[in-house]
Amino acid sequence: MCGIVGYVGNASGRANATHGALDVVLEGLRRLEYRGYDSAGVAVVAEGSISSRKKSGKLSNLLDELEEHPLPGSLTGIGHTRWATHGGPTDRNAHPHLADGGKLAVIHNGIIENFAELKQELLAKGVEFASETDTEVAAALLGDIFRNKLKGGADGGLTKAMQLACQRLEGAFTLLAVHADQPDVVVAARRNSPLVVGLGEGENFLGSDVSGFIDYTRKAVELGQDQIVTITSDSVDITDFFGAPAVGKEYTVDWDPASAEKGGYASFMEKEIHDQPDAVAQTLLGRSDARGHLILDELRIDPQLLKQVDKIIVLACGTAAYAGLVAKYAIENWCRIPTEVELAHEFRYRDPIVNSKTLVVSISQSGETMDTLMAVRYAREQGALTVSICNTNGSTIPRESDAVLYTHAGPEIAVASTKAFLAQITAAYLFGLYLAQLRGNIFTGQIKDVLADLNKIPAKIQKILDSSTELRELARSMKDEKSVLFLGRHVGYPVALEGALKLKEIAYIHAEGFAAGELKHGPIALIEEGQPVFVVVPSPRGRDSLHSKVVSNIQEIRARGARTLVIAEEGDEAVRDYAEHVFYVPETPTLLMPLLTTVPLQLFALELASGKGYDVDQPRNLAKSVTVE
Ligand code: F6R
Repeated sequence: MCGIVGYVGNASGRANATHGALDVVLEGLRRLEYRGYDSAGVAVVAEGSISSRKKSGKLSNLLDELEEHPLPGSLTGIGHTRWATHGGPTDRNAHPHLADGGKLAVIHNGIIENFAELKQELLAKGVEFASETDTEVAAALLGDIFRNKLKGGADGGLTKAMQLACQRLEGAFTLLAVHADQPDVVVAARRNSPLVVGLGEGENFLGSDVSGFIDYTRKAVELGQDQIVTITSDSVDITDFFGAPAVGKEYTVDWDPASAEKGGYASFMEKEIHDQPDAVAQTLLGRSDARGHLILDELRIDPQLLKQVDKIIVLACGTAAYAGLVAKYAIENWCRIPTEVELAHEFRYRDPIVNSKTLVVSISQSGETMDTLMAVRYAREQGALTVSICNTNGSTIPRESDAVLYTHAGPEIAVASTKAFLAQITAAYLFGLYLAQLRGNIFTGQIKDVLADLNKIPAKIQKILDSSTELRELARSMKDEKSVLFLGRHVGYPVALEGALKLKEIAYIHAEGFAAGELKHGPIALIEEGQPVFVVVPSPRGRDSLHSKVVSNIQEIRARGARTLVIAEEGDEAVRDYAEHVFYVPETPTLLMPLLTTVPLQLFALELASGKGYDVDQPRNLAKSVTVE
């Protein structure tokens, strides 16, 4: 939610940075645009003043504006791509916001919760505001402190002003500021919103995530909560909000810039769907030690404590929560521990029963989703153990958890999650097996069998991707549909929910997922002649009654005129008579089927939305990484 970039250095030596800081900042914004695309803006410090351009709409609008009204070359710059919270997506509300007579420029990700009170205070001092944003209030506060309290910086510079300003701010924020009086410096602060530092040679970077500077360096520094960082071309200084020095954790980014490019596909989403065999394979890699014991990436608690757990709560939002539902089936099956799945934003407001024997498993691609982060913090405060399944190294949720299992899906750029979902499910299986092994619920031999089945999944996904012509044709033919329903049972239920979510978010079609057994309790009233319904069918080799119950559900809706579009396992002939179309996936144990049955539904949504001419990577109203509550 909002992409932020900052840069100080002599970029002009680079072939792709003839305009200095501005080129680096724009390249960073191009890569971060997936975080928000309501408006974009930049500011550079040059010739003793701040120059800024901003435009509503996508980054391309800002680029057109810069063509028409170029900015001067500079060593220092900041840039922002916005997902609107306070104030609509207009030019006026776009960042940067200026203060201190135009000498200070500020960009922001998050929400300043006490902005109204601060605004009143500043209005009383005669400050004028040009936008409806909370960001402009933060900028004005910073400007007021720099100019009046610190006497134009004479009593401490922009860093000191940022410290004092942050002491007054409440809520979630990453703030970046540049000032004309300190042309070689960018100062940034973070509380509850993401910010990383990129370390270069004679240049340094700031970004909401590492993609903001991945073209220039893979050396990054994690910032902690409530910290301020001041970068120049050859220094990085970190303090807390009260000026006490702090040290960030340095790490090396393990993916290369090419993996964040489309690689010949029409969209990031299409590429990421095709990345899935690799995402699952990478997530499975290197998970056991020489004794065949499964291992986590980071474990900061005594494993004995995990043995005593008597309840598991999986916390996540959106697609990640559907991965959590799959996790529930696997964990309960293998570990025999009662497992609940809860939307993170509902969790802490219902006074949940949590204690030191509760294990909270959070699932998050970004590791920055505010709802999930706050729920994890709440659970920790109540004494729960916390494990994070996450795709983003060094992000806040894994950092604040007792143990981490990283999904190695690589960067996910398309706003609608695909490969991260399959990688989350894979990691959830691994975690279930880890726990079952630790607690002695299953033998190492059984674990090996499940791992062997899991290791066959990437090739099976590839097979589905390679044989999707009929499905794609169907999707193209259905672009004028007004509503599509999705049914599933057992682990097919979360798959149905995910299939519906994909269609909603990228094709803007009404879609709903149901547990197939729930149909007769109400939703079957929606079925009328021609209503398309996808049905996710479990393996006929699994529990007998499960398969036959779903086949009955297909018959019931077919009898009422539904167009039945069935996802079933190869060799399942029982569904043929009742299906308008059957899309087969390779054989696999029922519990692992979501790794396969999800793929046709992703392809269906992608193809249908593309057929409608929509931007599948940046669907309307959405943003990747929801860093506000
Ligand atoms: C849907 C989607 C979202 C995310 C949700 C959680 O395609 O991407 O529903 O799954 O916002 O995000 P993370 O996993 O980053 O916590």
